[in-house]
Amino acid sequence: MDAPILRLSHIKKVYPGVVALDDVSLDFYAGEVHAIAGENGAGKSTFIKVVTGAISPTAGEVYYNGELVRGNTPAKSLKAGIAAIYQEFNLFPFLSVAENVFYGRYPTKGIVVDFKKMERDTRELLSALNVDIDPSTQVKNLSVGYQQIVEIAKAVSMNAKVLIMDEPSAPLTENEVESLFGIVRKVRESGVAVIYISHRLEEIFAITDKVSVFRDGKYIQTLNTRDTNTGELVRLMVNRDLGEQYPKKDYERSGEVLEVRDLTTPVLHGISFKAYRGEILGLAGLVGAGRTETARALFGADKITGGEILINGTPVEIHSPIDAIRRGIGLIPEDRKRQGVFLGLPIQENITYANMGGISRGGVINRARDVKAGEEYRNLLNIKAASLGQLVKNLSGGNQQKVVLAKWLFTQCGILLFDEPTRGIDVGAKQEIYILMKQMVNEGKVVIMISSEMPELLGMADRIIVMREGRITGTLFRTEATQERVLKLAAGL
Ligand SMILES: Nc1ncnc2c1ncn2[C@@H]1O[C@H](COP(=O)(O)OP(=O)(O)OP(=O)(O)O)[C@@H](O)[C@H]1O
Ligand SMILES: [Mg+2]
Repeated sequence: MDAPILRLSHIKKVYPGVVALDDVSLDFYAGEVHAIAGENGAGKSTFIKVVTGAISPTAGEVYYNGELVRGNTPAKSLKAGIAAIYQEFNLFPFLSVAENVFYGRYPTKGIVVDFKKMERDTRELLSALNVDIDPSTQVKNLSVGYQQIVEIAKAVSMNAKVLIMDEPSAPLTENEVESLFGIVRKVRESGVAVIYISHRLEEIFAITDKVSVFRDGKYIQTLNTRDTNTGELVRLMVNRDLGEQYPKKDYERSGEVLEVRDLTTPVLHGISFKAYRGEILGLAGLVGAGRTETARALFGADKITGGEILINGTPVEIHSPIDAIRRGIGLIPEDRKRQGVFLGLPIQENITYANMGGISRGGVINRARDVKAGEEYRNLLNIKAASLGQLVKNLSGGNQQKVVLAKWLFTQCGILLFDEPTRGIDVGAKQEIYILMKQMVNEGKVVIMISSEMPELLGMADRIIVMREGRITGTLFRTEATQERVLKLAAGL
């Protein structure tokens, strides 16, 4: 066997109160796609950051091309041929798509930047990903899905020897994931070592050659992907049996709670639907279909230019999120980093922030109740942290998302809009979230769930509304919904 292109030897990383990586050794080879799997907080991203030099390990060594790496930094590792898509976005919102892709290495013509070439090359990269984004668009105007595609294009354009992808597919839908796979296969063939992290296990089986499992900062085992299966992988990750993934529930819808009539915004063209008490209503579509925009419009986050929203049969005016919350509408946003949490505040404050009423009496916050609620939700969602006082920015990606979920579960909203509720969340916690959603609808609430994960949508939604380019193209009852039918409607066929 060839020598590994990348070797990590006895890596340890200690943070106050947490051992994020505990004596991990692992090799990566050229021309292989190697998955790292594990629960939220298992140490996957920390491992990646050690490789790129974004953090330095407490102990252990990194070897690249057989040589010991010293004084590593992201700039140095990139120059040496290690490119990474981090779990957190790293784009500059005010620069264009092309400027982001070629940041720090703009092509020049004489002494001036060759913007034409830059845009042409960017367009080419994006078309390999089957998307049509104007390279001159400012990144801040792109949806999370498109931003991720720009990240992927950027990383691929580096022509790296090691390409690291930490949850590249999280904000993508089936179609875009297929394009991503096409690219991963192409770079693998050209001899690149790919490190691939995803909580969508079907992706691990579709695209990787090997999978290494981490648990609680420890390296557990490496398997050949074709010799293992979901059951074995999950057991290694969570160290217990999980059972049925989707909780059973009979579809019992009663009174109509929400009616949307002809909802219109700059991107939505006359959206009409009803949602009933006790229902989980799914919203399906490709990136750019208008699902997130529908949720944002209902939540008062985007300006509505036409149409009506009725709650329990009465027309309501919703001009801001405050109006929405007052009417009992909660939104768990897709872009959690920017809209969902206060990164600089502790877990505790984040959970109880949206429902001060639930923890105060006569305007005075009851600390004991505050802490009790925090503890309750932390346990419920199994949020991995040293304490409730830990700042959210120091949590693993998935655990940050659990904090946002906890915050909205703690509010007593009757209509909950979940935008990609399980994105980046590990298999065990996903199941907890599904159970919670069922509990909520059993209590008579309405859950509207946007999801790009087809199995989850089919497994959870009582009805699925399919959207395309700001319009509804069809509605399917659970009994008639199949992946194929949903995809056809989403593609406008
Ligand atoms: N800057 C930090 N300060 C303190 N603790 C940290 C910091 N960064 C990470 N941790 C902790 O290290 C552990 C591993 O985190 P890491 O981000 O590597 O997990 P992960 O496997 O990538 O999880 P996820 O699937 O949620 O992305 C977690 O317990 C996390 O809280
Ligand atoms: Mg991570």
